[in-house]
Amino acid sequence: MKIFLDTADLSEIGQAVSWGILDGVTTNPSLMAKAGASDFKVHLRKICDVVQGPVSGEVVSVEPDGMLKQAHELAAISPHMVIKVPMTVAGLQVCKKLNTENIPVNMTLVFSPAQALLAAKAGATYVSPFIGRLDDISHFGMDVVRDIVAIFDRYGFETNCLAASLRHPLHVVEAALAGAHVATLPWNVLEKLVHHPLTDVGIDRFLQDWKKIRPEGW
Ligand code: G3P
Repeated sequence: MKIFLDTADLSEIGQAVSWGILDGVTTNPSLMAKAGASDFKVHLRKICDVVQGPVSGEVVSVEPDGMLKQAHELAAISPHMVIKVPMTVAGLQVCKKLNTENIPVNMTLVFSPAQALLAAKAGATYVSPFIGRLDDISHFGMDVVRDIVAIFDRYGFETNCLAASLRHPLHVVEAALAGAHVATLPWNVLEKLVHHPLTDVGIDRFLQDWKKIRPEGW
């Protein structure tokens, strides 16, 4: 499973890159606003310069012509760019068009396997089911990931299921077990994945015991 960071914060992205585990980045209008990225094209280019992988940037028009124009502007920023379009009829139309131009699309705001099936048929490279937001309204978000992966496997779709809106480490583990091709995580969730109290205790015990022999130079 690939790991993307769900942020527009350059410092978080830089840290994750330095860990050697980052495969890509997803942004959305809320994350760009949180990062204060008013010069958003420059900001996206900076992200693309740091990340050796796909970087999703989202259109904000809701009608096909406007979406397509914005998609072309985003795609021109870098070959790393993936165009996020919302799961609407206009989004499907734009996805299909961008697919014929070999511009990758991340179909976002997906909340059902039926929506994911349509996005795959329109040629999306990624579909993004929002797990946490489904859990928020008492639906089992991860069931949607499982169903999407089963449908894509059964019919040989090349579309990747990108589990989004992940809120805690178990969401990430569950997404991996469900067969998600990608999980996109906020920084605080990525940090939590690293730590385990028994790892800290174990390091401390090894170091204490090592002091008993103290080999020269070590
Ligand atoms: O990738 C989508 C994600 O940013 C949404 O997360 O926590 O706002 O539901 P959240």
